[in-house]
Amino acid sequence: MTEATPIESTDAIGNSPASPQSLPWAARTRGLVGSIIDSSTSLLQRQTHDIVSFAMGSPAAEAVPFDAFRQIYDSVLADAGAAAYAYGATEGEVALRDELLAYLESTPERTSAERLLITSGGMQGLDLAGKVFIDPGDLVIVEAPTYTNGSATLLTYGADIMEAPTDDDGLMVEALPELVQKAGRLPKAIYVIPNFQNPTGTAMSLERRLLLLALAKEWGSIIIDDDPYGMLRFDGGHIPGFRELGGGDPLVFSVRTFSKILAPGLRVGWVDADPSIVAKLIDAKQTMDTCTNVPNQLLSAEFLRRGNLEPHLVRLRSEYHTRMSAMQTSLEAHFSGRATWTNPEGGFFLWLTFGEHVDTSKLFDLGLQKGVAFIPGRAFSVTGQFGNALRLCFASQTPERTELGISRLAEALDAL
Ligand SMILES: Cc1ncc(COP(=O)(O)O)c(C=O)c1O
Repeated sequence: MTEATPIESTDAIGNSPASPQSLPWAARTRGLVGSIIDSSTSLLQRQTHDIVSFAMGSPAAEAVPFDAFRQIYDSVLADAGAAAYAYGATEGEVALRDELLAYLESTPERTSAERLLITSGGMQGLDLAGKVFIDPGDLVIVEAPTYTNGSATLLTYGADIMEAPTDDDGLMVEALPELVQKAGRLPKAIYVIPNFQNPTGTAMSLERRLLLLALAKEWGSIIIDDDPYGMLRFDGGHIPGFRELGGGDPLVFSVRTFSKILAPGLRVGWVDADPSIVAKLIDAKQTMDTCTNVPNQLLSAEFLRRGNLEPHLVRLRSEYHTRMSAMQTSLEAHFSGRATWTNPEGGFFLWLTFGEHVDTSKLFDLGLQKGVAFIPGRAFSVTGQFGNALRLCFASQTPERTELGISRLAEALDAL
């Protein structure tokens, strides 16, 4: 083994290095809270024993269409040569924009070229929303619980986050006027995940969507409509989304991604917003990453061009339905009378709530020892609520592994 080079303790003229505390940090770094959800990936990778992970919101490994990807890489990308690896247009590759517009035409999300911006995943769409709309101190309403990577992104722009309650029909929109009155100012934005919410798995009712649109218009607030799971409905009827209901209203800023329906590592998503906003987003994106990963845009475009997406979604919906039902069966067997949980009609997650006395952060440590992982509820609230709840991703495990994982979780609860 070669010896590691010792870290320098003085500079070239003999001065000691600056301490991290004395660095000229931007004030904005105080709002950088990171993500407990994402950090769990590295924690789990460090474990050497068998773990059934319900932690990350990743598609099932078997659900990623590798064979189609390989074929496309070997043919289309190989044929495109260096052009596939050059800088691309900020708004996205023409091939992907055209194919996506054509695909969306057959869905309730149909849109037009000037409303479309290809992004580096859904996270970049959320970041761009923060960048162009949020000033320090602006009030932003979020669901409690919510996807805290989304609220954390808004926090980095100085948002003053206000949590609003949710139930089985999603955000309790009827509670917002009173909350806003108490806050004494109008929200600049309302961040919602309308379909198969992360982390609860519930969908917002049509009545509430309509009421939220009406309130947003009254208040002049942007609805940040984050919907990565809407195409993964496996049960129940379609509920029109904000894009559809808003009819192109500039207050609706829709964030979408291929992460959950193709693969998260592609880092390809899109924003659908008013053309005047898209023009600003292009300027904003140019100061971030210039353009989205070109080979992965071409890969996604060709996947769409071959007509692969719709049959792929049909398979995913059926598989995730099976997996969700398997998790319900295992939960009934091991947690009946000990917890309550949601019954999603799509997406990836369900939300388990115990009695007040159960601390799921402690349960996490015991679960890890027993070989099961989840995300503790506190990770989904900026104020640390939901200490007795947890999120389970049912999408990434087979029914057999789910049964094993849920039985391990029950053992961990016994030990707690
Ligand atoms: C609600 C929600 N929004 C955004 C994202 C981020 O999507 P992406 O991986 O495409 O950045 C996720 C991923 O878990 C999510 O659940």
